Amino acid sequence: MIKYIGSKRALLPWIVETIETIRRLEKAQSVVDLFSGSARVGHALKARGFQVTANDVNTYAFVLAQALVEADARVYPQGRIARILHELMQVAPAPGWFTRVYCEEARYFQPNNGARIEAIREAIEAHADDPLLKAILLTSLILAADKVDSTTGVQMAYLKRWAPRAYNPLRLEYPPLLAGRGQAFLGDALEMAGKLEADIFYLDPPYNQHSYLGNYHVWETLVRWDHPQTYGVAQKRMDVQERKSPFNSKREAKDAMIAVLSQIKAHHVVVSFNDEGFFSAEEIEWMLKEWGYVVRLTRPHQRYVGARIGIYNPQGEKVGRISHTENHEFLFVATHSQKVHRAFLEQPEVLAISQPTLL
Ligand SMILES: C[S@@+](CC[C@H](N)C(=O)[O-])C[C@H]1O[C@@H](n2cnc3c(N)ncnc32)[C@H](O)[C@@H]1O
Repeated sequence: MIKYIGSKRALLPWIVETIETIRRLEKAQSVVDLFSGSARVGHALKARGFQVTANDVNTYAFVLAQALVEADARVYPQGRIARILHELMQVAPAPGWFTRVYCEEARYFQPNNGARIEAIREAIEAHADDPLLKAILLTSLILAADKVDSTTGVQMAYLKRWAPRAYNPLRLEYPPLLAGRGQAFLGDALEMAGKLEADIFYLDPPYNQHSYLGNYHVWETLVRWDHPQTYGVAQKRMDVQERKSPFNSKREAKDAMIAVLSQIKAHHVVVSFNDEGFFSAEEIEWMLKEWGYVVRLTRPHQRYVGARIGIYNPQGEKVGRISHTENHEFLFVATHSQKVHRAFLEQPEVLAISQPTLL
């Protein structure tokens, strides 16, 4: 999976176990992941046999979900896809617009890898008549490009000196597709929340002002292949300035969250959040009160790498102080089911529960 800020990599077993607990007690089988991002959570749930629907507002996230959640590995088996990937690996490098903008004007990839990414991306268009196949090939390309990029995991900036991995040759691999069909949607959560149906909704919205489109604009361009106008040192797409999410605005996020929750018809809702976002835990519990039973599960978590390494000036001297290296991650379980609520209250050895709230 790609490097993704707010990705639930470390918290995945906890999230999956929480959703499994609901299934065990209430035979809940279907899950909507409304802010799917890297598609990691949807993929893990699909692997456990859930019927998964993933949605995100950004096109690269939709493509990842098409491959990792929607596509059926039995229809796109490794042998068939590996043959196409092998052909794509033979395509001659073609330095052009992408290489100039992202490897010379900005430095996200070494130019030789950029020219290969560019040529492979062009060649993938030949498969446009099969959208899922195209998404699988694009996912393979994003995963490969992510392994040879020269960033700290966000595309707001690139490293001053090339990351050692940027010198590795680009290598396309079969993405970890799973057997069975899921669904992927490209939409605004505010519009999709009322249209999608499932037993359980999993919500992992942005927590702060940092725009995902701004942080992953190169993936958006690679997927859309629309050669946008770019700006600034980071060469972001111009539309980063217009395509804003209310979840990235301190002023708008609360109303947006309330509007999303008011449309959800599911019996159970699981919300990821932490203690550094726009809302306090109490505010989220209040927003979930319609479900009747709400528990808050809490885990300590290592903060992002920048906070752990420290802050340095261009001369390499340590400056400033890091306030803390750990935060608390929350999972809120809101449910109509008293049985589910009780189960969480009775399992403190499995899941640390703080302040269970019966509203
Ligand atoms: C915290 S991330 C989700 C991370 C994901 N759970 C993972 O493990 O990779 C939040 C996601 O919400 C998406 N997003 C932001 N605003 C949105 C909106 N209005 N509707 C749907 N998705 C949105 C972002 O593109 C981003 O992928």
